[in-house]
Amino acid sequence: MKSVDLVIRGGSVVAPDRIVQASVAIADERIVAVGHDDVMPPAQREMRADGLFLLPGAIDSHVHFRDPGYPHKETWQTGSAAAACGGVTTVFDMPNTHPPTGTREALALKLKAAERSFCDYGIHALLGDDTVGHLEDLLDGGATSFKAFVGNTFGNLPAPTDGALLEGFEKLAPLGIRTVVHAENSSIMARRQKVMQDAGRHDAQAHLDARPAVAEIEAIGRVVTLAEWAGARLHIAHHSAADSLFLLRAAKARGVDLTVETCPQYLLLNTDDILRLGGILRVNPPVREPRHNQPLWDALMDGTIDMIATDHAPHTPEEKTRESIWACDCGFPGVETQMPLMLTQVNLQRATLMDYVKWSAVAPAKAWGLYGTKGVIAPGAHADIAFVDMNKTGTLSQGRLQTISKISPWHGRAVQGYPVHTLLRGRFVMQHGRLVEDAITHGRSVKGVQAMPAARPRNQEHYSSAIVTPPAGVRPNAWPEGMLR
Ligand code: DOR
Ligand code: ZN
Repeated sequence: MKSVDLVIRGGSVVAPDRIVQASVAIADERIVAVGHDDVMPPAQREMRADGLFLLPGAIDSHVHFRDPGYPHKETWQTGSAAAACGGVTTVFDMPNTHPPTGTREALALKLKAAERSFCDYGIHALLGDDTVGHLEDLLDGGATSFKAFVGNTFGNLPAPTDGALLEGFEKLAPLGIRTVVHAENSSIMARRQKVMQDAGRHDAQAHLDARPAVAEIEAIGRVVTLAEWAGARLHIAHHSAADSLFLLRAAKARGVDLTVETCPQYLLLNTDDILRLGGILRVNPPVREPRHNQPLWDALMDGTIDMIATDHAPHTPEEKTRESIWACDCGFPGVETQMPLMLTQVNLQRATLMDYVKWSAVAPAKAWGLYGTKGVIAPGAHADIAFVDMNKTGTLSQGRLQTISKISPWHGRAVQGYPVHTLLRGRFVMQHGRLVEDAITHGRSVKGVQAMPAARPRNQEHYSSAIVTPPAGVRPNAWPEGMLR
């Protein structure tokens, strides 16, 4: 029998529907066998994983690695090191870098920065009024997907007009490309923020008051309407409010190809933490009242929310702790702490390890066209594996994080359950909790393995109702014949 590179023996392989004691054989970056110890091929290297769980490496659909543009906040190198140490083997990076990822040149700069990466990556390019004319060009240049900042946030990119957003969806639908939307209504928030500021409010709670749940409800309703009309794939970023879940449920019931992420901060933190943390917890969308936490868990459990992402948004301690809440930059690092935080919840029996694998790996792999190659421990897949010790306890410490942003709302939090080794396509990028420094160029783009078949045409019946009846002879989900000629 031909010898393979590595055989891992004695671990428990976690799939979304079962956990099995099995050995795993790896050759040429891929898993070649999963099964009984006795049937493993001879290997160059053997390793024991007794007592450990083998999870598909986590796929984080939402990180801001700030490169190019803000190297004092994060670089690709430090961000991807944080991913590797957090059991995350693939990230999708956001376009609010400087320059924003909306031109071929800016995209090339980002891909250059990502050449030194400890994890694999996809690139969400910018969908906005200035980019909607050249989306295919950005895809040709290496973008895997798009992001629309419908709600304003760090980088102050203008929200796309509804016209540009619809046009983008119409162009991307036949290509099957999914668009991430930051779904908050910018106009509502700008107005309310001004009212707060005029009233002299500078306290941390004012940030939440300026961004009420209705901003999320309205924006989700609008973007779902546009994506559904166009038959486009849609992904809602960092879902934060209980009040907008009904829209997701209804859209999914109608067959809209919608995926949704939430983040540990919306599941585990709330306004009770604002007093303690102030600007450190300032994030968009805001962390809300305690009544939102449990419904978000329920939505994960019933599949309304598909996955966990982190919105890893590093800023420096100085930028996070300014006097006025309005001067504190929004967001905080998360890619490295997600797994221990969520595994702790598994230990508390809030979910199973199988649920966690669904949310952290299977669902994102499916959403971005990677499933089978990533998101699963099975023959043929990339050997992306997080080795997890469910008994290991510790306290999260911002000073020990790989990110440049050594300030975290999770600082001091007790956790049980850690990734202890991370394997990326058969090579260790983290071992015994330590970064493997010389793996720095191992990460690569997932563009080459991404498969996004054309989206299903939109639900015609839904729009043949009295609400929207297109004029006779006009195909409702396309440009009217001749209009562009
Ligand atoms: O708080 C946030 N910060 N939310 C976002 O959506 C973006 C992020 C950032 O880039 O800093
Ligand atoms: Zn973000």
